[in-house]
Amino acid sequence: MNKSQELPIRAVAFDAYGTLFDVHSVISLAEQLCPGRGEALSMLWRQKQLEYSWLRAMSGRYKQFWDITRDALRFSVARLAPELSAADEARLMNQYSSLSAFPENLGALRELRSLGLPLAILTNGNREMIEVSVRSSGMDGMFEHLLSSESVQTFKTRSAIYDLGPQALGVSAAEILFVSSNCWDAIAATWHGYRSFWINRSGAPLEVLDTTPNATGSLLTEVVEYARQRLA
Ligand code: LAC
Repeated sequence: MNKSQELPIRAVAFDAYGTLFDVHSVISLAEQLCPGRGEALSMLWRQKQLEYSWLRAMSGRYKQFWDITRDALRFSVARLAPELSAADEARLMNQYSSLSAFPENLGALRELRSLGLPLAILTNGNREMIEVSVRSSGMDGMFEHLLSSESVQTFKTRSAIYDLGPQALGVSAAEILFVSSNCWDAIAATWHGYRSFWINRSGAPLEVLDTTPNATGSLLTEVVEYARQRLA
């Protein structure tokens, strides 16, 4: 579809972890607890968390994302830092509930709101987990909807979770800009009819899944410009 045939953007939905909240802001505590292995632990933790969510979604074995996050940490600790105590595990989990927001995010969200666009979070996170993260990152009041895996008891990339966007926002997926820094998530949203924007903060290669996100940038502020040019 060329630009003149595209539908206007009427709402924006954001992935949470990695996009709004920096999952790797746990690195400094992880490094403090296991010197030399902090980054590896954080990377494996995130990868396992996603892997467990995919396996559970595929097999119909839902469990809250918070609990999956703990399971993933336990696996990662067993592999990389078996000496970590239960108290250290609790400290890392606690850190996960108050992840840092990326610095440009709040300003970008405010600008998108000032364009009159309703905003939503569409995430694997369970409600409580996401509410705590929104509050602790100062994003309270920014989102019209917090759309969580909890209400459909499954995870991305199942249709049921992506369907929450159009249902809540009352417009078609093609009129919702879905923003994610997880390339696979931006691509899956495209498969489900959204217009997608991949925030490639780390210069990662494109996932090879026969689909390309509709747009790519490296900061959330670029989403503002993209949306501004495509308003109704
Ligand atoms: C989420 C994960 C995919 O927030 O980051 O849904």
